[in-house]
Amino acid sequence: MNIQAIKGVKDILPDDMPAWQHLEATARRIFEDFGFSEIRVPVFEYTELFARTIGASTDIVEKEMYTFEDRDGGSLTLRPEATAGVVRAVIEHNLVHTDPALKVYALGPMFRRERPQKGRYRQFHQVDVEAFGFTSPTVDAETIELALAYLDACGVRQHELVLNSVGDRHCRPAYVERLRQALRDVAPAMCADCQRRADANPLRVLDCKVPEDQAAIDALPRITDHLCEGCAAHFGEVRRQLDLLGIPYRLSHRLVRGLDYYVRTTFEVTSDLLGAQSSVLGGGRYDGLVKDLGGPDAAGIGFAVGMERLALLLPPREAEPRCDVFLMPLAAAALDRALRLQRELRGAGLAAMLDPEGRSFKSRMKQADKLGARFVAILGDDEMARGAWTVRDMARSEQQAVPEEKILDHLKEKANG
Ligand code: HAM
Repeated sequence: MNIQAIKGVKDILPDDMPAWQHLEATARRIFEDFGFSEIRVPVFEYTELFARTIGASTDIVEKEMYTFEDRDGGSLTLRPEATAGVVRAVIEHNLVHTDPALKVYALGPMFRRERPQKGRYRQFHQVDVEAFGFTSPTVDAETIELALAYLDACGVRQHELVLNSVGDRHCRPAYVERLRQALRDVAPAMCADCQRRADANPLRVLDCKVPEDQAAIDALPRITDHLCEGCAAHFGEVRRQLDLLGIPYRLSHRLVRGLDYYVRTTFEVTSDLLGAQSSVLGGGRYDGLVKDLGGPDAAGIGFAVGMERLALLLPPREAEPRCDVFLMPLAAAALDRALRLQRELRGAGLAAMLDPEGRSFKSRMKQADKLGARFVAILGDDEMARGAWTVRDMARSEQQAVPEEKILDHLKEKANG
């Protein structure tokens, strides 16, 4: 039996790449326009980092991490998301001390052992954006504006912004206690996950998707009715600024997100074109996380876009092949000269190619067409005798003879012109 890729892990093939390159290039352009710099953090970290940031009783940490024992007995985990690693790196390299307002983005693969289905994979890619050192609600609104600007620049049209505030350490504990109390009566009739979480981490009950549990969940106390003055004011200002910027949103008190580090603003962008896995992007504020992990008291806010889901929302893109010059040595003695010219053209930054198999003239012309060659340079017996190449301008269907000593400069000038 041939070995196949792991279930839920996808190859991204050459035909897929034009779309991916477009999404990645657009990310770099838009994020850098908003003042963000790229950062790359490892794909694996000590397991404890994820348990301490994402939260020990979340789905991700409880059931979805690829964790393995290192040879020295330490526990390592393939990153299920990027925020934890970025926060660790920011602390380790003192980045918030040197630049109190740090804005970074990261691109790369993440790993979660979820049940694979359309839009849900075990290795998937995120573009992740994080800003440290900002407490102002203006930055919440701006971060959301950035997320939407990115989707817009990629060409995504049909989507909805969902918004919530999950409170902070002043108001959330009291709310969570209320939730715990309310769940005491209803949890025994709910799914096994809800029963377990009703006491250990009641907020997670709000993430439950089991249809039979929804009526009970809808009747539970709502965080937005229990925000402290500071959180209510912050949330009010975020909403006011979104209105000011003309950014529509839907409020959802159940948007607590699947990670424990959030405080105050949380948001997601969903699209009904995605089916069950409707969230293309999610994020929020996580003030306190940097400090909890041993760093300075720096606020944080960010979001991550799922690239596979984003790609699903866009029409396929055709590859744009680039071939400036296709060389066609037809005489046996012409190959050596063509190989040297190919090297010289490449050295000058041009995309030069030839057919190493030496197929017929007709099939080589077809190949040149397929490659989108702009010029074809032919060196056959006649050309060798004359000491001049035949250069064909493919767009104009014109040919001219170019003396051997001028061929490099001629092609450079034509191709760059
Ligand atoms: P998240 O909501 O867990 O947030 O993931 C963000 C996005 O990653 C989702 O909206 C989805 O598009 C994509 N995604 C998640 N799981 C899968 C999967 N199994 N297959 C395909 N795509 C998936 C975070 O990861 C946070 N770190 C976001 C953040 C950054 N918050 C603050 N800063």
